[in-house]
Amino acid sequence: MVLSYARDPARLRDLAQSLGPSASAGTPAEAAGAGDVVVLSVPWPQLDAALAAVGGLDARVLVDTCNPFASPGGPLDLPAGGMSAALEVARRAPTAQVVKAFNTLYFVTLGERAGLRAAGGVPLAMPVSGDDSDAKELVSTLVRDAGYEPVDIGGLGGAARQEPGGPVYGDELTAAEVRDRLRDLEPPTWPLAVASSARSSAPRTRPLSSSWSTPTSSSTPVSAR
Ligand SMILES: NC(=O)c1ccc[n+]([C@@H]2O[C@H](COP(=O)([O-])OP(=O)(O)OC[C@H]3O[C@@H](n4cnc5c(N)ncnc54)[C@H](OP(=O)(O)O)[C@@H]3O)[C@@H](O)[C@H]2O)c1
Repeated sequence: MVLSYARDPARLRDLAQSLGPSASAGTPAEAAGAGDVVVLSVPWPQLDAALAAVGGLDARVLVDTCNPFASPGGPLDLPAGGMSAALEVARRAPTAQVVKAFNTLYFVTLGERAGLRAAGGVPLAMPVSGDDSDAKELVSTLVRDAGYEPVDIGGLGGAARQEPGGPVYGDELTAAEVRDRLRDLEPPTWPLAVASSARSSAPRTRPLSSSWSTPTSSSTPVSAR
């Protein structure tokens, strides 16, 4: 595994060393070239710059964790035409197999709750969207290894359901709760274009369409960003 930041890889050497002998630090291009799976986790305004720094992504699985905020804690910057952010990432990285995952939970929660499965508890759900079933299965394995329960919620076109404003974004949910919220809400009935225009002015963690399920009382709101 190769870790990469925008700046000098030397900053990452201690962190990489702490992860064991199979981890190292490198440039974005070195990180992208190191394996079959590339995790893209940069602020939305840096998307193009990061993809340019990475270079080619041919036949790679690209895990998109990015949420489309114009700035940290700022307003949404949604793709035109009602597309999910994940579809927009796929448009900008057309040779990669994009899978949306790891974007719904606050990073502190991601760290703290990763141990639930190992501790014998009910793991938190991790919604996963993608158009390639093999890529999605590979990412689901990584999600399980990270201690979460992957929930395949469909293709990239419906990934907005796990993005800011969507019904399974920002809350700590079990797999059953994710499925419950998405029941009766499967694409293509989901009103992508209508909901997209509504989303630009909506609070970050609230459903934007009256057809979306009401959050269950057992779930805990968190603020992923
Ligand atoms: N934070 C959360 O709780 C959370 C939860 C779920 C999803 N997300 C999403 O995950 C993404 C990353 O969030 P974050 O909070 O981790 O953001 P962040 O800390 O601001 O940035 C993450 C990393 O992106 C690197 N980066 C920025 N521009 C780059 C470029 N052009 N090339 C290569 N690397 C670049 C930065 O490197 P430098 O340090 O060198 O600048 C930084 O280390 C966002 O889209 C966010 O919406 C965040």
